[in-house]
Formats: sequence, structure tokens, C-alpha cells
Amino acid sequence: MDRYAVIGNPIGHSKSPQIHRLFAEQTGEQMSYEALLAPIDDFAGTLRSFLSDGLGINVTVPFKEQAWALVDQHTPAAQRAGAVNTIQRQADGSLLGDNTDGKGLVRDIQHNAGLSLAGLKILLVGAGGAARGVIQPLLAAGPAQLCIVNRTVSKAEALGALFIDLGPVSAAGFQWIEEPVDLIINATSASLAGDLPEISPKLIRPGHTWCYDMMYANEPTPFNRWAAEQGAERCLDGLGMLVEQAAEAFLLWRGVRPETAPVLAALR
Ligand code: ATR
Repeated sequence: MDRYAVIGNPIGHSKSPQIHRLFAEQTGEQMSYEALLAPIDDFAGTLRSFLSDGLGINVTVPFKEQAWALVDQHTPAAQRAGAVNTIQRQADGSLLGDNTDGKGLVRDIQHNAGLSLAGLKILLVGAGGAARGVIQPLLAAGPAQLCIVNRTVSKAEALGALFIDLGPVSAAGFQWIEEPVDLIINATSASLAGDLPEISPKLIRPGHTWCYDMMYANEPTPFNRWAAEQGAERCLDGLGMLVEQAAEAFLLWRGVRPETAPVLAALR
């Protein structure tokens, strides 16, 4: 049986095994997919041991940057993202690292939710690894403007500079911008702590602005609750992105892209 896994720490609550099992059932692919807990101080050893036999692996928090440093080759998406969430073992044993997070986000917004990003003013909140992973695919969708805002402004500026050759990207501090935008994407880890990035409510034009929290939970996230209170037109969470990034990984490994709608419906 062809073996795949997701590796992280913690890993117990990962939905990836369920998602990939549903993909395999749907497409008739003969494969297994398990959850692998790596000790914080031995990601590399755990990864190598699995990939001596396994064909591919998804990497999640907190190991995506380590995975980037460890693989032998990067796809262009992974190269720009500085992080790897999908690894494929090649025929010669070398490891190819990809990053499907950004593609998953863009697909969820454009295809599942039906919002075309071309020509939009987008605000990306956060300047950590999660934000970096989605910038290149967002710019490829042709927005009028992609402004990275972060609590620590210098990090937003440094991140913007990495992508300046790819499109209209800029950087700002939380209090610098008050003009409404078309789409706000929360890529901070604030929701994890039940917290909110302190951006201006004026950024949301009631009945117009869409909001997307890359986090998800059974309940609406604090960011999405806040956005709804400000009258945001739509509030989306990151579950769709999770399923879409998984479908991109499945495509890389198996050469077939599964239908995501029934899987997303099953998870909801
Ligand atoms: P990740 O890999 O999830 O992006 P990270 O690289 O540690 O994690 O980055 C976390 C991001 O969330 C940063 O942009 C951080 O802002 P700072 O750079 O100013 O630290 C942001 N963040 C975390 N908690 C936040 C909060 N309560 N309010 C605003 N931003 C927050």
C-alpha cells in the first residue's frame, strides 16, 4: 500500500487523515494516510524515517520552515513561500518540497465562494509564516493592491520587499489604514489565543467587504465575529483552504484532483 502522512506537533486534532481518506475513497486510489507526531527536537529524524518507505508527507505547525530547509528541491511556490507543506519522494529518493497553502486559499475564495480577486483591494493581516505562504498566489490572481499590515510594521515591510517584483504589494501598520478595502484576510495567529488584530473597523464597508480568517474552529473565530459585527458582506473561515490545499497535495502525489465540495460538506 502506498503510504502518506501528515507530520506536526501537536497532531492529534488534524483533519488531514480524514480528508485524504475521503479523497482516496472518492478517486479509488489505493493508499493509506496517517498522522505522525514528531518530537519538537527531532522533526528531521521522524520525517526521514517515514519517507524511507512513504511516498509523500504533509507538514504542519511548527515544522514548515524546517521542511523547507530539509528538502532537496523546491517548486517555485515553495521557493517563494519559504515554507513547505507538501513533500513528495522522487524516484531517485530525493525530496521535492511544495507549498499548496496559497493555492488552496485562492481556490477557496475564487472557486468555492465565487469572489474573483482580479482588481480587488486586499488587506493581508499578519506577516509571519502563514502570511508569507499565500502572497505569491494572491498576487498571481491580479489584485489592484495587496497591502500587508502587521502589529510589528518592520516585519510587514520586510515581507513585502520579498515579493515586490511580483505585483502591487505594500506594507503598513495597523493604525495607518482606514479606507475600506474589498477583502481582508487574517493570517495572524491571534485567533488561536482568542484574540483580535487591532485593525480599524473603517476598513470594512458594510455590505461590501469580505473577510477571511485562515484559522477555523467549530465556532466562528473572534476575527469573523468582529467582522460580522462591522457588517462584512461575507465571513469565511479556513476550513475550505484546508481542504483545497489537501486536494493540491493529492494532485501532486496521485495525478488526480479530487472533488472538494463533498469533503468540505462532510467536515462541516
Ligand atoms: P504563523 O506561522 O502562524 O504565521 P508566526 O510566524 O509566529 O506564526 O506569525 C504570527 C503572526 O501573527 C505575526 O504577524 C504576529 O504579529 P507580530 O509580527 O507583530 O508578532 C501576528 N499576531 C499574533 N498574535 C497577534 C495579536 N494578538 N494581534 C495582532 N497580531 C498578532
